[in-house]
Amino acid sequence: MTVDAGKTVSGINIKSSQNRLLIKNGRVVNDDGMEDADVYIEDGIIKQVGRNLIIPGGTRTIDATGKLVMPGGIDPHTHFELEMMGAKTADDFYKGTRAAVAGGTTTVIDFVLPDKGQSLIEAYNNWRQKADGKVCCDYGLHVGVTWWSPSVRKEMEKLVSEDYGVNSFKMFMAYKDAWMLDDYNLMCAVEACAELKALPQVHAENGHIIARNTEKLLAAGVTGPEGHERSRDEEVEGEAVNRACVIANQANSPLYIVHMMSKSAVRAIQQARARQRQPLYGETLAATVGTDGSHYRNACFRHAAAHVLSPPLRPDRSTPQAIVEALADDHLQLIGSDNCTFHEKDKELGKGNFAKIPNGVNGVEDRMAVLWQKAVNTGIMDPCRFVAVTSSTAAKIFNLWPAKGRVAVNSDADVVVWDPRLERTITAAAHKHAVDFNIFEGQHVVGSPQYVIVNGRVCLDDGQLRVVEGHGKFLKTPVNSPYVYGGEEVLHSASEHPLHVDVAPRHVSVTNGTPTPEALNKHLEDMSVTSSGCSTPTGRKMRETGQRNLQSSTFSISKEVEGLDTKTSVRVRNPPGGKSSGLW
Ligand code: URP
Ligand code: ZN
Ligand code: ZN
Repeated sequence: MTVDAGKTVSGINIKSSQNRLLIKNGRVVNDDGMEDADVYIEDGIIKQVGRNLIIPGGTRTIDATGKLVMPGGIDPHTHFELEMMGAKTADDFYKGTRAAVAGGTTTVIDFVLPDKGQSLIEAYNNWRQKADGKVCCDYGLHVGVTWWSPSVRKEMEKLVSEDYGVNSFKMFMAYKDAWMLDDYNLMCAVEACAELKALPQVHAENGHIIARNTEKLLAAGVTGPEGHERSRDEEVEGEAVNRACVIANQANSPLYIVHMMSKSAVRAIQQARARQRQPLYGETLAATVGTDGSHYRNACFRHAAAHVLSPPLRPDRSTPQAIVEALADDHLQLIGSDNCTFHEKDKELGKGNFAKIPNGVNGVEDRMAVLWQKAVNTGIMDPCRFVAVTSSTAAKIFNLWPAKGRVAVNSDADVVVWDPRLERTITAAAHKHAVDFNIFEGQHVVGSPQYVIVNGRVCLDDGQLRVVEGHGKFLKTPVNSPYVYGGEEVLHSASEHPLHVDVAPRHVSVTNGTPTPEALNKHLEDMSVTSSGCSTPTGRKMRETGQRNLQSSTFSISKEVEGLDTKTSVRVRNPPGGKSSGLW
């Protein structure tokens, strides 16, 4: 057994000294409300939430005065120990989940990606073997459908059974001659998902156009990393998003689009939503929010190649803010990392041919801090919406709710004590990844985890990382997620789930289910040390539309939290600004 950076201990009962934990004086933030409450944890489960709790002697107490107590992050998109494009990712399941925990993420969902012709079950078993003994936090698995045949359909049926616990399958519209499916096979796979009440996921880019553009660019002498984005611009992504939505509609299936990287992609899903009945979920990435495609033009190959992922970062520098706003406005529903790190020597496989640069970047560690900085500190998103997009919505979609994604009685004790005032600079020298490059290098962030509790164990302890290799477990994700297949009313009836006990957030008055800006602002002004409602999923409703200028926004958790313990609450002060009706 390994503790933190490679130190081996044996014979230690890791749980015994820590099975009772009290997080005191913090503000509990869930996706639907905030309240000032203590949280008592025993044997890996949240047992009590409230004030004046009766706590057994010998319980460790963490003082969370001035801090936010949130459900641990769920990263719905990682690639640990993945072999692709002739290389293997640097982060394995130990280092990858260690980095995740360091950043406040307590559950990851990784992708089993079979080779063409390989048994899906065999690939699944390989992944379990790689991960089970190594993970520092819980994990689930999506499975890639990288080829199609009746045997694949049969294996999907097995994989969704209780024995395997898979409820989502990813199909690729890109990576021609590798993982790509044509539209016929894609439609068959989407139909199979719908029949099995699993969730189809797609990588939406037009693989044929990319292949042709790549040939043309190479022939014209464009061989460097800048050719990567040029071979697959926004239109190439937007077209595939639209086509994927049409295919899902024809198959009468819900759809989850992974790593949406552009305004064009968001526009396409919005348009599809307006005409389609089945739910369409859009995931974006920390990379898109935290950086942009200008790096592909960096003269240093290593620097530029380190930013290569697919779909690529966009040269349009207004993309990151547009994507944050789409998340806040519920045009996109969640944020992952697509963590897929490669060492410099592997990125060099593409020196002289950008199409051979292994695709992938870091993000599992910095996902939450980067989004907090870009979305909450700027006033675009409130803390509840932050919890929704980084944790709760993934739990609901992948049927882990409310055991995961919620701070409530009977939920798993995966909890983050978030210090909204903690300042740091992101740097590869300090990060926990196995690579020596970080795409967010040098970014100053305010707000990071101080404590991270994984299944009741304090794994980040006042900033000190104390993860345990193998502490995490595999999570079976049952099909037929009520959030996906149960209709809208199920989304709001999590309180009826047998595991759920309400933390009793006080809701603001609503009109047609949506808090009015006036009601919400008044409510937040009135908030004292009691519970409060949040504006999720329309987190932006706290501000007037048009007040989107990052520089002029004055919503500041860091400042407002100063007086949390003396009745001050998170508050939104409306910045000056004109009206506008939308970005795109
Ligand atoms: O560039 C990326 N995204 N690498 C990982 C594989 C994938 O498409 O998700
Ligand atoms: Zn992909
Ligand atoms: Zn990916």
